[in-house]
Amino acid sequence: MNKINVGLIGYGVVGSGVVKLLKQREEYLQNKFNAQFFIKTLADRSIHKKDTRGLGRTLLTKDYRKVLEDPEIDVVVELMGGLHPAKEIMIEALKRGKHVVTANKAVIAAAGKELFQLAKKHNAHLYFESCVGAGTPMINIITDGLAGNKFSALYGIINGTCNFILTAMTKNKMSFGQALAEAQKRGFAESNPTLDINGMDSTHKLAILISLAFGKFIHVKDIYTEGITQISHDDIEHAEKLNLTIKLLAIAKKVNRKIEARVHPTLISKDHPLASINNVYNALYLEARPMGDILLSGEGAGQMAAASGVLSDLIHLASNWKGDTSLLSNIYSEVKNLGIRPIGQVKTKYYLRFMASDKPGTLSKLAGVLGRYKIGINSVTQKAHSGKSTVPVIILTDDAPERLFRLALQKIDQLSIVKSKPVAIRMENLN
Ligand code: HSE
Repeated sequence: MNKINVGLIGYGVVGSGVVKLLKQREEYLQNKFNAQFFIKTLADRSIHKKDTRGLGRTLLTKDYRKVLEDPEIDVVVELMGGLHPAKEIMIEALKRGKHVVTANKAVIAAAGKELFQLAKKHNAHLYFESCVGAGTPMINIITDGLAGNKFSALYGIINGTCNFILTAMTKNKMSFGQALAEAQKRGFAESNPTLDINGMDSTHKLAILISLAFGKFIHVKDIYTEGITQISHDDIEHAEKLNLTIKLLAIAKKVNRKIEARVHPTLISKDHPLASINNVYNALYLEARPMGDILLSGEGAGQMAAASGVLSDLIHLASNWKGDTSLLSNIYSEVKNLGIRPIGQVKTKYYLRFMASDKPGTLSKLAGVLGRYKIGINSVTQKAHSGKSTVPVIILTDDAPERLFRLALQKIDQLSIVKSKPVAIRMENLN
């Protein structure tokens, strides 16, 4: 029997889920994996306010150093979140030869490379399945399930809060604020939900997926990021009529030794499988060779979904208890000479919506501006004369470089016939 002493740092939604799960699965883990996990120390800044019933012999403390300085603790499970001091805690744990399991995407996105180097040097393991898609095994599918494949593109719905909000706005006509409050109540959102709705949480996760799928350690500032706060019921309704749906997509493609990486609301066909991923569900769509296209989906946020990922990491660790290297640490290495395509050079189709004067010549003026920037028009929808002086106009463009589209957008905004701030949403033609 492998008796494994765990030091748990952070006793919030996920931390308490992990404690519950380890208790529920105690016998099963012993019988099936020959592993006995004992939470020797639990550190949390507000431990005195937490419900710690059932933790028996566990030392409860406010001081995470009690975990780091205890030579009997084999594994540090870091679930406190935030960049600091979580990063320093992981560094010190690895330096002391302790294994680390974390759900902290901000730290793995920012310092994964450094942490893996340390882990190798000190013969320790680092696992982080819950960083992306909670317990939905998105890390595992790239590093293990599809080991040996090469990836050309990935498309992720990787923020449960945003997907929940967009679904609630689309299907239940809920307001943005109501939907966010509900996501918070259900334990999906980060303690600072701004990170969810401004897209940064997805960006952290995309950086991790890119490092694993393409071997590129990308800085989060090199990932173009837009959140969902500008999405309105108007756009959702217009999209529906065009057989499209809006998802916050994390997109990465590898073309000619350049990585294109972006997170933004995206219109996709309702016929694509990603369009049916709703509520808190996350999904990862991978273009893999030789495997072919593959879609993985599951609950991407919430207490027990995240706890499931942590448990799976602990089991992987226990199964490789005396091993000196893991599949993960081999994969976490950098491919040389891979560049980054700046957002200005990225080509996409756009949906463009604004209010315009209902008078002859309006459409030709708009077409003129787009033509000047060599942007082709795929379709134009303008309501028939309604007796009102302004009407909504929706233009779908052909593929256009972002740089030219932005210039055209500025010009359109300045036209006197345009009566509202134009809204632009990128579209993605998924196969
Ligand atoms: N706040 C995150 C989300 C939690 O909504 O997806 C899971 O990483």
